[in-house]
Amino acid sequence: MGKIVIAIDGYSGCGKSSTAKAVAKALGFTYIDSGAMYRAATLHFLNHFLSPSNPNDVEKGLKSLEISFQINPDTQKQETYLNGLNVEDQIRTMKVSERVSEVATVKQIRKELVAKQQRLGKRKGVVMDGRDIGSVVFPDAELKVFMTADLETRAARRQQELLDKGEMVDLEEIKTNLAERDRIDSSRVESPLIKTPDAVEIDTSNLTFDGQVAQIVQLAKAVI
Ligand code: C5P
Repeated sequence: MGKIVIAIDGYSGCGKSSTAKAVAKALGFTYIDSGAMYRAATLHFLNHFLSPSNPNDVEKGLKSLEISFQINPDTQKQETYLNGLNVEDQIRTMKVSERVSEVATVKQIRKELVAKQQRLGKRKGVVMDGRDIGSVVFPDAELKVFMTADLETRAARRQQELLDKGEMVDLEEIKTNLAERDRIDSSRVESPLIKTPDAVEIDTSNLTFDGQVAQIVQLAKAVI
C-alpha cells in the first residue's frame, strides 16, 4: 500500500486525536499528535514560570525544550515526553488546556514545532492532527480532513474523557475553554485555524466514532 500524508484539522474537542489514531491503526500508518507538542511546550513554560509573551522567556524556553513520543509497551499507546519525563497525563489537564492557545500564538514556538512535525512526517505514511496541518505543516498532504461538531457535543465528550482520567470538570467550564481556544486559534495572526478549500469537511455531531473513522479510511483508500 502506498504511503500518504493525512492531515486532520478542526476545532477543539472534535475527537480529532482519537479518530486520527484509529485511522492510522487501520492503515498501518504512524499517528502524530501535533497538539500534544503545543501542550508539552505549555507545560514547560508553566513549570519554569516563563511567559510566552516575553521574547527572552520564549528563547530560554525553546532552548531547554525537548519533546518526544514513545510507545508504552504495556498499552501500545503513544505517550508524550518532555525533557525525558512522561507528561502524557499532565498535558491533558485543564491547567494546560487553559494556557495552550496563548502559547500556540507565538511565532517562534510555532516555527520550531512545525519544523519538528515536518521532520516526523517526511517519510509519509502518517496521520497528523492539529489546526494548521493542511494549511501550513503539510500543504501538499494527499488527504485533508476538516472535522467539526457542535459545541454541546464536543464539551460532553471532553467531560467524559476527563472523567475517565479522574478529573471532574464542570460542563460550562469545558464549554468556555473549548470556545475560547477556538476563538484564539481561529483569529491568531500566525497560522490560524482554517479549512483549506481542498479539505473534506466531516461534521461528527451525529456520527458514531466507528462511522467517522470508516469515512476517513475510505477517503484515504481512494487516494492511496
Ligand atoms: O489538539 P489539541 O486540542 O490537543 O491542541 C491544543 C492546542 O494547541 C489548540 O487549542 C491550539 O491552540 C494548539 N495547536 C495549534 N496547532 C496545532 C495543534 C494544536 O495551534 N497544529
